[in-house]
Parts: sequence; structure tokens; C-alpha cells
Amino acid sequence: MSSDDGSNPFASTEAYYASYRPGYGAAAIRYLDDRFDLDGSSRVLDLGCGTGQIAVPLAAHVGEVVGMDPNEEMLRRARRRADAARRENVEWIVGSDADLDGDLGTFRLVTMGRSFHWMDQERTLERIHRLTEPEGGVAICNDAEWFTRGTKAWQDDVYALANEHVGNLPARTGPVEYDDPWDELIEGFGFTDVEVAVFESEREWDVESVVGYVLSLSYCSPATFGEAKSTFEDDLRTRLDERAERFVQDAEVTVIAGRKEPL
Ligand SMILES: C[S@@+](CC[C@H](N)C(=O)[O-])C[C@H]1O[C@@H](n2cnc3c(N)ncnc32)[C@H](O)[C@@H]1O
Repeated sequence: MSSDDGSNPFASTEAYYASYRPGYGAAAIRYLDDRFDLDGSSRVLDLGCGTGQIAVPLAAHVGEVVGMDPNEEMLRRARRRADAARRENVEWIVGSDADLDGDLGTFRLVTMGRSFHWMDQERTLERIHRLTEPEGGVAICNDAEWFTRGTKAWQDDVYALANEHVGNLPARTGPVEYDDPWDELIEGFGFTDVEVAVFESEREWDVESVVGYVLSLSYCSPATFGEAKSTFEDDLRTRLDERAERFVQDAEVTVIAGRKEPL
């Protein structure tokens, strides 16, 4: 996929994404396992899988995971994550929500982690419903993004500095309440028993992981910074060092999941 035409917003972030975007945590993966009775006969599709933060841990609970993403470099790094975890039951496919068709087979569960907002949501849910086994389901997973949505003063500093270097950053709003909730959207496409499960934890960052996390964001990609990247990195390290504090985030993972009715 070309990085110049805006069709690949994560171009140049991939290495940072693989190293610095947190996973969803064991509790969220266990929740999916229990909720959808996953076992060695189950197939899972992880759509918009990126570098495999859901696909790889979930592979330990099922027979097969298909990780699908339009960004080939993301998939290359996802494959490395799977190799490091010795997971051989993941197939990686280059594709997007536009490529969901019957050739993929059927799935017990379709997951989308931090990716659903990039898709044609109604078409995607309609196709996922067709690809899902009865009593299987769909799960939209998110990890509250701290750069724009966090509430800590150290995060204000990170945002302010990035803003000095990059134009067009999304606003730093703090936590956001959406008026088009995805639980209702899922229900509208025939999934029942929809639940919103929330997993809270405290996550601690160090200077290098803060820098890496910022560069993993589509709107703060290395390509976006261009020649200013290394100045930004140096300035950010200095500013964080000056704060001389622990960089703690109140992390919140949300799983919105619904079930397809039995036959
Ligand atoms: C923020 S990353 C999420 C990666 C991973 N699922 C995670 O939870 O860390 C978003 C991913 O969605 C992919 N993506 C963007 N548009 C997409 C689309 N239309 N269909 C499927 N995936 C898409 C991007 O290539 C990127 O890898």
C-alpha cells in the first residue's frame, strides 16, 4: 500500500507500533475466551490486526486465527510477534474491511482492536454477521488513548510539545463520551446479548516508551514529523527528564461484544 496518498495512515509507524503499543492484557483475552467458549476447534478473524496485539495472545486459546490488515509492514511485524511467541496457528492476510467475503470461511469470533473506526462500519458489521457462526460473535476492543484522551499533566506536556512540531493534531479533549455508541450499533446488525466489559489497570511508562508511543500514532508518525523527528525526540526526552516523575497512566481497556443467535 502506498504511503503517499493518505491511504495508509500508519505508514512509517510500524516499528514503533510493534514495540510500544500495549497489548490488551490477560483479563480481556480471558474474557473473550470465556464469553465465546473458544477452544481448539475455534477460528477467529482479527480484522485490522496491526502488529498482532490481539491475534497472537488469542492464538493460544483457539485452533486458528486469521490476522487481516491492509498494511503489509504491520503484518510482517505481527508475524515476528507470533514467531517470538511460538504461535504457528495464525495466518496473515493482506486485506481490509472491503475484502470480507465468503472465501475467508466462517469464524467463531471476529475481533477488531483499535481498528473499527477506520472502517465502513455498517458494511463491516453486516458482512461480519454473515461470516460468524451461530452463537459466535463480534468483539470491538479499545485501549483508551492517552495522548489526546488522558488526564495527566505529563501527558499535557507531551501533547503540547508534539503540537509545536506537527500541525493538524486532533484536539486533546480528555475522556470522550460518544453519542453513537458501538454497543447499540452492533445490536442493530443482529448481534444480541451485547455487553461492554471494562478492564482498568495502572500502566507505567518510561521516557523511551513515551517517545515510541507518540511515534506509533497515525497523526504523529515519523513521516508526519519529517526532518523535525529527531529534534522532537530530543526535546521530548529532555522535557520528560525535567519532570523527574513516574509516568503513570490510568489504563482502560474496553471490549464491546455481542453474540450471533443460535440457529
Ligand atoms: C491502531 S491500529 C490497531 C492494530 C491492532 N489491532 C491493535 O489493537 O493494536 C489500526 C490498524 O487498522 C488497520 N486498518 C486501517 N484501515 C483499515 C480497514 N479499512 N480495514 C481493516 N484494517 C484497517 C491499520 O492498517 C492498522 O494496522
